[in-house]
Amino acid sequence: MIASPEAFPAMVLDWFDQHGRHDLPWQRNPTPYRVWVSEIMLQQTQVSVVIPYFERFMASFPTLAELASAELDAVLAHWSGLGYYARARHLYRAAVLIADQHGGVFPDDFADVQNLPGIGRSTAGAILSLACGQRHPILDGNVKRVLARVFGVDGWPGQSAVLAELWRLAEHCTPQSRAGAYNQGMMDLGATRCTRTRPDCARCPLAACCVAQLQGRQRELPAPRPRKELPTRATTLLAILDPSGEILLERRPPTGIWGGLWSLPETGVSASDIESIAAWCQDRLGVRPERVERLAERRHTFSHYHLRIELARIELGAYPSGVQDGLGVRWSAPQTVGDLGLPAPIARILADLSL
Ligand code: ADE
Repeated sequence: MIASPEAFPAMVLDWFDQHGRHDLPWQRNPTPYRVWVSEIMLQQTQVSVVIPYFERFMASFPTLAELASAELDAVLAHWSGLGYYARARHLYRAAVLIADQHGGVFPDDFADVQNLPGIGRSTAGAILSLACGQRHPILDGNVKRVLARVFGVDGWPGQSAVLAELWRLAEHCTPQSRAGAYNQGMMDLGATRCTRTRPDCARCPLAACCVAQLQGRQRELPAPRPRKELPTRATTLLAILDPSGEILLERRPPTGIWGGLWSLPETGVSASDIESIAAWCQDRLGVRPERVERLAERRHTFSHYHLRIELARIELGAYPSGVQDGLGVRWSAPQTVGDLGLPAPIARILADLSL
């Protein structure tokens, strides 16, 4: 039997009632604010990773008003380690916008929600269906996989024609009532049964009507993105210590990797070129270093490229004249850097330096 979009939602809802997840932190007291924060955190991150971040976030910013009146740095600090920091900046910008333009109340109109920074069609649908009981389809990565397999949709979902077909199916399958439970059920099925590499068809309620299962094509569907080798870029990060052991941090530009986060100063000079590093310090800090040590290289992979990180540890014998604490730079005691929003690779580097 091939699945029909008419019979399909009832099977998902039955399964969800018995086997779905009903006790996630954001499902207790599922206000639009709490569901919104959870959906943003869940956009590129697994539930098990998100849970402690969500709990800490809610402890510090229990209401939208408290988030809107917080400092961006405090919000970013709560995101440290979750990655994709644009999510946190958008969340914060949206909170300020809701405070200004919607009287501090999370909007319940689909177009208003979708117009908020960081919220696309699927996330808007998830928030309004899960928190407000409205009927909207969703199409996150899990749901794309379930629909592509059950209905045998060929092609990479990043292609617009394939995506349009998946949205059409998502719209068609979403039931008139209990859309929130159905959506949660689809996400849970994708996360716990219809997984990418090891689908558990033996325990899937849709197995009997799933095209991929019937044709043995679970591994092929959905089709992966056409492969492109990621390029490798290189940079050098400098761990610069003043005579009291404080370390120099620089705020990254607002866009690009680690946008707006505190990081180590970066230079195009190789860490093995000690003389050029010393000249860099003279030029930028007004003081020549007492000691420059090249440390082991790191690698970090972003969605679009690999980053090879050369690393130099620099001890200044005298206090620098060229850099004052202020906009964009700061000297921090090693014990306090944890309070800042540091990207996880930078936090790891600082921990390894055992300052
Ligand atoms: N991924 C995105 N939203 C989710 C949710 N509400 N539950 C589980 N996984 C998710």
